[in-house]
Amino acid sequence: MAESAVDAMKKAHEVLAAYDFKVIDLERGYARRTLKVDLDRNEISEHPVSQKMIDLWTGGKGFDLWLMFQEIDKNTKWDDPNNPICFSPGPLGGTTSFPGSGKTIVTSISPLTKSIMDCNVGGYFGPYLKFSGYDALVIIGKAKDDVVVVIDAQTEKITIEKAPKEHIDSHLLSEELTEMYADNELDKRNISVVSSGKGAEHTYMGVLNFSFYDWRRQLPRMKQAGRGGIGTVFRNKRLKAVVVRNRDITPAWRVAENKVQKLVQPEKIPHCDCTAEIEQICAKYNNNPEYVIEMMQDVQDRYRCIPPETLDVINLKTRTPKAYLYHIATFYKTFSLEEKGEQTIQVCMGTACHVKGSAKILDEFERELNVKTGQTTKDKKFSLEAVACLGACSLAPVVKIGDEVLGGVQVKDVKKIIKNAQGK
Ligand code: FES
Repeated sequence: MAESAVDAMKKAHEVLAAYDFKVIDLERGYARRTLKVDLDRNEISEHPVSQKMIDLWTGGKGFDLWLMFQEIDKNTKWDDPNNPICFSPGPLGGTTSFPGSGKTIVTSISPLTKSIMDCNVGGYFGPYLKFSGYDALVIIGKAKDDVVVVIDAQTEKITIEKAPKEHIDSHLLSEELTEMYADNELDKRNISVVSSGKGAEHTYMGVLNFSFYDWRRQLPRMKQAGRGGIGTVFRNKRLKAVVVRNRDITPAWRVAENKVQKLVQPEKIPHCDCTAEIEQICAKYNNNPEYVIEMMQDVQDRYRCIPPETLDVINLKTRTPKAYLYHIATFYKTFSLEEKGEQTIQVCMGTACHVKGSAKILDEFERELNVKTGQTTKDKKFSLEAVACLGACSLAPVVKIGDEVLGGVQVKDVKKIIKNAQGK
């Protein structure tokens, strides 16, 4: 097999330092250790986080400032090797319960203001650093050549690698490094890359780009730590990138998928042998994940339901997680996991229709069809639904059969409506 450009880049890497570590679980938001990378000496080391540090400085900006003051003195300039770049998520970093807990605080002496500057940024880097078992990362020194620092929680190895061939441009570099360190497509979600672009080499206002892998677009996207020119400090250290690879944990969307799947009663779902047909439907939309709702509409029209096999095909073709597809299939009334009748009778329960007695009309339909609302008749002719405003309030009470809207319906009309519909 021909060597890919990314393979050639990886081959050109020279490992300057390697450090084995153990991923540890967090306790009450802390791993109780920080990671330090010295690019002058090619040294990687761990340092304990004391209870006093936690009590006084909490994490995030507090930890960063504390760690900075361990490295600098009053004479330290932004481009001195001992000007550190500190990264720290807070103790809630990576929890999904609170907005903003995905943030990381980055701190360094700014080339713009010549004073300490902090900056907060989203993306996955902070949480992944935390899940790897570090409350903060401190980088000091200056490399002689362009290097990447790789924190790999799957192999439990941290390396400083000479990286001569990758692009400097953050968009390209993030893609290259994501491809390089992920084992497969799913694993790309475990990678986050911090980098800075060419502009940072020629200005004092270089930003840092923090990547997260967007599974829908199938490429890494970025969040910026833009204040103070910390990207300029980053490139001044000849750092091309810091890569963190998260442990291979079951992604949240897979857990959600399992939960949703448990709610679905398999015996009620019809099965179909329809792969080729669904592939055609996906191809009609160029397999673009932006159009999964349209694809599912086509499936619903074709089969009067969404058979699970169709979701498998859409999942494969668009790389949209099944949890998301099930979410759509169960959220919108227009979709049904169970086969609907040939015709759907919708009785409007919106305010205007309700005050004009639509509840009694719905009762009458239930009686005549011998089904409850939401069910389908045994002969699969009709499904009965109660819906919100159908947008024809002036005709209330309103009933819709297929595409036909009937206004001013009365209880005594129900039998006739069903008879007419049966004749169609
Ligand atoms: S409330 Fe029934 S159509 Fe608007």
